[in-house]
Amino acid sequence: MSTLFRTKNVEQSIRDTEEPEHSLKKSLSALDLTVFGVGVIIGTGIFVLTGQVAKNNAGPAVSLAFVVAGVVCALAALCYAEFASTVPVAGSAYTFSYASLGEMPAWIIGWDLVLEFALGTAVVAVGWSGYIRSLLDNAGWHLPDYLAGRDGAHGFGFDILAAGLVLVLTVILVLGMKLSARITSIVVAIKVAVVLIVIIAGAFFVHGENYKPFIPNPQPVPAGGSLKAPLVQLMFGWAPANYGVMGIFTAASVVFFAFIGFDIVATAAEETRNPQRDMPRGILGSLVICTVLYVAVSIVVTGMEKYTRLSVEAPLADAFKAIGHPWYAGVISFGAAVGLTTVCLILLLGQTRVFFAMSRDGLLPRFFSRVHPRFKTPHRPTILLGVVIAVVAGFTSLSELAELVNIGTLFAFVVVAISVIILRRTRPDLPRAFRTPWVPFVPIVSVCATLWLMVNLPAETWIRFAVWMLIGLVVYFFYGRTHSRLARRDEAPAGEVPGPPPGNTR
Ligand code: ALA
Repeated sequence: MSTLFRTKNVEQSIRDTEEPEHSLKKSLSALDLTVFGVGVIIGTGIFVLTGQVAKNNAGPAVSLAFVVAGVVCALAALCYAEFASTVPVAGSAYTFSYASLGEMPAWIIGWDLVLEFALGTAVVAVGWSGYIRSLLDNAGWHLPDYLAGRDGAHGFGFDILAAGLVLVLTVILVLGMKLSARITSIVVAIKVAVVLIVIIAGAFFVHGENYKPFIPNPQPVPAGGSLKAPLVQLMFGWAPANYGVMGIFTAASVVFFAFIGFDIVATAAEETRNPQRDMPRGILGSLVICTVLYVAVSIVVTGMEKYTRLSVEAPLADAFKAIGHPWYAGVISFGAAVGLTTVCLILLLGQTRVFFAMSRDGLLPRFFSRVHPRFKTPHRPTILLGVVIAVVAGFTSLSELAELVNIGTLFAFVVVAISVIILRRTRPDLPRAFRTPWVPFVPIVSVCATLWLMVNLPAETWIRFAVWMLIGLVVYFFYGRTHSRLARRDEAPAGEVPGPPPGNTR
């Protein structure tokens, strides 16, 4: 039993990162982190889900859903900031929980992060494909329905563009091409500019009529889909409904996807020049910027077009098309397509980070972390996961995937918040450059708020999540537990612990 909860000493984690052949370059500043954060955060969430959720769950009150999701994320971000500044090691929530809760919980989180990053990549790819189709439509080219994706397809539907994007990015990652800081900043600038265009240009086309009613009356969920109802409604026997006040929470649990990414900033802790000072600034800074932009965009878009008519594929661009401004729509689609590509790439890359940290600890087979002799990249997991994700992106509908990513990420938030409380007790002596305010109050509120969003996700999402986690536990018991580097360290004489495989994960 005790081996399940053996913890990895924080000092050891930090020492591991200092082994010369395995250390990453420390070059990022607070500004770099904020740019990186905004680069990962702004994506399919705002560019696509806004339309879907306004249409199906919340109406114009989707802006309130963004506020709710933003508050939940802010609470979690305060916890992530303490951890990232105390344990500045690649691997984010996985590393944090290895230091505080123990090996099995850390494994669970690592497995969970793989779900978040892998499926997150698929969601963003599907969103990207919607905008490319909108651009193609402008040019008068239309893909046949069966190649245009699952959403809205009757019978066979495969999203060829989304799958193609994932495969191309996989090749880029295998070849080890890096996104230079300059390209990242240019893409982030384009993306933010497009969002600002939507807000500023769109504001001139807002009609007050479109906001009425701001919170539409609850409507029953169509029969036959009770597993599609939020868990909270099934738990308390309420009749499942869309819209109304409860619809805002359902919407919040979906648009939460738009905020995912600030937690990924924490994975860059090891490459930050002064993580103690800059991590909290990067995490909280990027979150605040995105929240403000999201709320503004959702207010404008639902004011431009009646929520019932919003497009679910490329809502921001199509809102401009609908009012007779295809030129704006083209610019927005172009910016979205460029911007979403990098989100997808960074999420795909995020997986290799978690794999790296997990195989450095021996919880995943060495096979996966042996790098390519020429390209020096972890090509095996990249190719394996790239192909799987491409197939998933081709065959699954966007909202189903997004909900699964959300439950995985929310679960990680719960664990990180609990870990903050535990590490304060077990290691009060550690220097903490950033301290989450009012511990344990803030982490406890964070756990409750996060759980609330989780129970607002559909019951079927919970079932899928449970299945994924069970598979993870089986893998841990049959592999990770015995191969763990910590277990070997306990057994081997000092100095004989096998080192992590060399590998550059960026
Ligand atoms: N937050 C990112 C997006 O919305 C993952 O695409």
